[in-house]
Amino acid sequence: MKTSLQRIERVDALEGLSRLADESVDLAITSPPYNIGKSYERRLPLDEYLDWCARWMTEVHRVVKPDGAFWLNLGYLEVPGRGRAVPIPYLLWNRSPFYLLQEIVWHYGAGVTSKAAFCPRNEKWLWFVKNPRAYRFELDAVRDPAVKYPNQTKNGKRRCNPLGKNPGDVWIIPKVTSGRNRSSKERADHPAQFPLAVIRRIVDACSAPGELILDPFAGSGSTLVAARLAGRRALGFELKSDYCAIAEERLAAAAPPSRPMGAGEIIMRRNA
Ligand SMILES: C[S@@+](CC[C@H](N)C(=O)[O-])C[C@H]1O[C@@H](n2cnc3c(N)ncnc32)[C@H](O)[C@@H]1O
Repeated sequence: MKTSLQRIERVDALEGLSRLADESVDLAITSPPYNIGKSYERRLPLDEYLDWCARWMTEVHRVVKPDGAFWLNLGYLEVPGRGRAVPIPYLLWNRSPFYLLQEIVWHYGAGVTSKAAFCPRNEKWLWFVKNPRAYRFELDAVRDPAVKYPNQTKNGKRRCNPLGKNPGDVWIIPKVTSGRNRSSKERADHPAQFPLAVIRRIVDACSAPGELILDPFAGSGSTLVAARLAGRRALGFELKSDYCAIAEERLAAAAPPSRPMGAGEIIMRRNA
């Protein structure tokens, strides 16, 4: 079942982006292929991979509104002869016109094991904005209620915000795991699925109900599902039809909030 407020399209990301009007998206969130030989990607020479990323990131910049943001999740890749696991943000952070506002470390417990080095247990999120003087940050919507001393006072005033503390720039949120006896409840049949909790924090902090969120590499549709649960419109692009089908199933199973979402279908066509 397709819903018009959150929609996935089976299309190449660059092709899908080219159809979108300038400054039509409030928030973009994505994790692209990392060029590490996963089943859903075609491995390219490093320079070609980086140029391709620069192309689609620049397109994301074009379609994001002047006060909008782009959250980019990146891991590691090998740079032959130079580095075994080079953080991809080192290679991509300045390859689009976006302004880099902050890097978030997403730390998780599960991960690959290693005897030759420390086990990798994090990925990064780059929070880009178009305008560092005008962007949305709804801190109260994402405060962390786990405060150690909630009743501490200074000069008779409570020191802590009653809603909780700023969650900081290291987010400890479990990965979506697979396997017998360890599979996450939200697990769909996709090898690189976002946990909804990570996306929900970004959506709640950086967009408002009814706004349009874009994921150009939507995979199993986690960004779209989080958007639906939060009452946002969303559009995703994905090349593989089986992942599109999973995303549609997940969207159909996700209940939107009961309060109204704001009017409007997704505005799509360029020059329309
Ligand atoms: C890292 S995964 C994203 C997973 C997603 N965050 C989720 O929660 O399921 C990247 C996705 O991009 C898709 N993909 C690869 N090349 C693409 C392209 N040129 N255009 C659109 N999608 C592409 C892959 O099939 C894969 O599902």
